Amino acid sequence: MIFGATGDLAKRKLFPSLYRLFSRNKLDKFAVIGVARRSLSNDDFQASVKESVISSLGNKEDLDQFVSHFYYQSHDVADSSSYVSLRNFADQIDADYELEGNRIFYLAMAPEFFGPIALHLKSDGLTDVKGYKRLVIEKPFGHDLESAKKLNQQIRSAFSEKEVYRIDHYLGKEMVRNIEVIRFANAIFEPLWNNRYISNIQITSSETLGVEERGRYYETSGALRDMLQNHMMQMVALLAMEPPISLTTDEVRSEKVRVFRSLRSVEGEEVKQYFVRGQYGEGMVEDVTVPKYRDEAMVDQESNTETFVAGKIMIDNFRWAGVPFYIRTGKRMATKSTKIVVQFKDIPMNLYYQTEKMLNPNLLVIHIQPEEGITLHLNAKKAGGHLDAQEVKLSFANTGIHAMNTPEGYEKLLYDCMRGDATNFTHWDEVAYSWAFVDKISAVWEKTKAAFPNYESGTMGPKAADELLEKDGFFWWPMAELEVDICK
Ligand code: BG6
Repeated sequence: MIFGATGDLAKRKLFPSLYRLFSRNKLDKFAVIGVARRSLSNDDFQASVKESVISSLGNKEDLDQFVSHFYYQSHDVADSSSYVSLRNFADQIDADYELEGNRIFYLAMAPEFFGPIALHLKSDGLTDVKGYKRLVIEKPFGHDLESAKKLNQQIRSAFSEKEVYRIDHYLGKEMVRNIEVIRFANAIFEPLWNNRYISNIQITSSETLGVEERGRYYETSGALRDMLQNHMMQMVALLAMEPPISLTTDEVRSEKVRVFRSLRSVEGEEVKQYFVRGQYGEGMVEDVTVPKYRDEAMVDQESNTETFVAGKIMIDNFRWAGVPFYIRTGKRMATKSTKIVVQFKDIPMNLYYQTEKMLNPNLLVIHIQPEEGITLHLNAKKAGGHLDAQEVKLSFANTGIHAMNTPEGYEKLLYDCMRGDATNFTHWDEVAYSWAFVDKISAVWEKTKAAFPNYESGTMGPKAADELLEKDGFFWWPMAELEVDICK
């Protein structure tokens, strides 16, 4: 059951992902009930599903067969009688398709409805099933720790923790999932993966888009809550966690939770030493002049909301003591790109001074998007020359090998949920620790007015974000330089 079936997420991501699973024979017996407020006939709903698949994947021969599995129910989320008719309808569909009482509820709608819907699902009998029941829930999971706790209580009164699948779509990305394989399947990395050999780790997730039509939501969120609390922190956890005993959901999650427990808490006066906020001004993005954030729709002319955040995260445990994890994310930046740079320490003595500069440190770059792959930066002898060293880059490109894009994150996450694999969904403990960390930063930012706008659209953020690294003797590796050779 998809709640919010006429919304943007369902159209852009869920229907095309379901189609891809269908076309690969991953969906055997299935039916989808689209649930939303407006009244719509089954035929119209099926037509809209078809249209969304066509617009994202092109026309397909078996589309009519695919959409014949889709049904529509108009629904009032606050009204019990609406849930009762939904239950009766679902029971009927269950019998027709022999679904053995297995049911997934996908909440693809505004977060204020998550709690009330979960409560109704239980009180109106939709969760009384013979088979499994699972709840898939989109972000944001609360606005801060307190609201997240309240939401969690509501959800948990109807579903157990094991039945809750909290989506973080970054965990569906091919190269985010690859982090653990790169780390734990290679003898050359894991022994070096600690503070003896790594000097710092940089994670950048930059976007060129502005806030688009989401001004109202974004004003209450900002980059800290929208990107850092979830996606960025999840990448930090995957990079920093200890090798799990095995790859079971519980083992992987408990290692991630241990990372969150080791985060150095940053509060009060310290916040400005560790974190930088920014808001975009007018500027040029891809040769087009774009307005400042404060001129976007539904945004306050005096808005104090950050559209950029950079931070230094310290993980105070044996493995990572002293190694900064620098993270930055923002809207209206110079390029749309997500990359992780693992910078290794310099060798103890340099025998190969080049004429102009010092040896480059070894880097392992994990390209998350748009290109997918890894690059290892090494030093090797310059061909023909004297004993001069020069940088060489070994690249592996995912897309280059398969000659097509890797599957959408949502497709993998939906499939995981159907199989009952919650490893790539966020556990409540991860959510709670991450909010506790972020709340201390927002508490300071909310109290003080920033001198916004402080970066021009089309740039890599405010100058202070560069200074954050400079004062530690580092710099952000330029994105354009890192892109060389990969997936071209
Ligand atoms: C979402 C945020 O979670 O992630 C958006 O709400 C952001 O503001 C998006 O644009 C970025 O996702 P991706 O996959 O394009 O990096």
